[in-house]
Amino acid sequence: MNTTKSLIRKCLFPAAGYGTRFLPATKAMPKEMMPIVNKPLIQYGVEEAMEAGLTEMAIVTGRGKRALEDHFDVNVELEAQIQGTDKELHLTEIRKIMAETRFTYTRQKAMRGLGDAILSGETLIGDEPFAVVLADDLCLNDGSGVLLQMIELFKQFRCSIVAIQEVAAEDTEKYGIVAGEALREDLYRISQMVEKPSPEEAPSRMAIIGRYLLTPDIFDILRSTPTGRNGELQITDALAAQAQRGCVLAYRFKGRRFDCGSITGYVEATNFCYEQYRLRNF
Ligand code: G1P
Repeated sequence: MNTTKSLIRKCLFPAAGYGTRFLPATKAMPKEMMPIVNKPLIQYGVEEAMEAGLTEMAIVTGRGKRALEDHFDVNVELEAQIQGTDKELHLTEIRKIMAETRFTYTRQKAMRGLGDAILSGETLIGDEPFAVVLADDLCLNDGSGVLLQMIELFKQFRCSIVAIQEVAAEDTEKYGIVAGEALREDLYRISQMVEKPSPEEAPSRMAIIGRYLLTPDIFDILRSTPTGRNGELQITDALAAQAQRGCVLAYRFKGRRFDCGSITGYVEATNFCYEQYRLRNF
């Protein structure tokens, strides 16, 4: 059996947020279903997880998110309608996902922050290490995807790992910011983590982007973590506690990340992916 698969099998997708920055588009549609060209954001995340050898997709949803479940399910009428036509080609990728992975869902009861969303997912994850993907951080590159890069590191270090990238000083207050000792030029052992600090408070400009590998003791730590920034339970604070007790690594990944939680990032991602789509199809 492939050791990667046996080490980490599950990927958690916190997907309960309202997506207010995209209103009115997200009034009746989950923000994770916003398409980049012809594929919803969440599907990019699921494909990245599959590439990393993960087969169990655990989705934390909320009210108004039914489209997510329907997307990863068979649409019998549609299948019957297009069977035998060239339109079937458009379903190749989603059929592969459905054949090779399993989806489970739970609902977050109230919007109490990313830490609370991850804690809500405990029922789907259990007592094993797992990945977390924030679908609105779209990560693309030519070589191995970010999660696969992180899984390779996990095999060696067996501790929680967050993906990071350098941001401009004025942007630190949009992210969890980390600082620590460099183990090599792209890997740090974290000693400090702050959620959305002002540029003056920020211990560095290394920002967490939406990819995490977490060991399951994070659930107990989250239960004893007080609410933090914005009165919400922050995964950044729980990881800071985990870093004090043991080891948390920050990895500067190879690849490009689009902040599809913002209109600008979403449009940039669309332009980038359309260019690739055009090269493939015309
Ligand atoms: C969340 C995390 C933050 C992280 C960011 C990455 O913030 O709390 O630490 O840097 O995702 O996208 P959010 O963007 O949900 O406010």
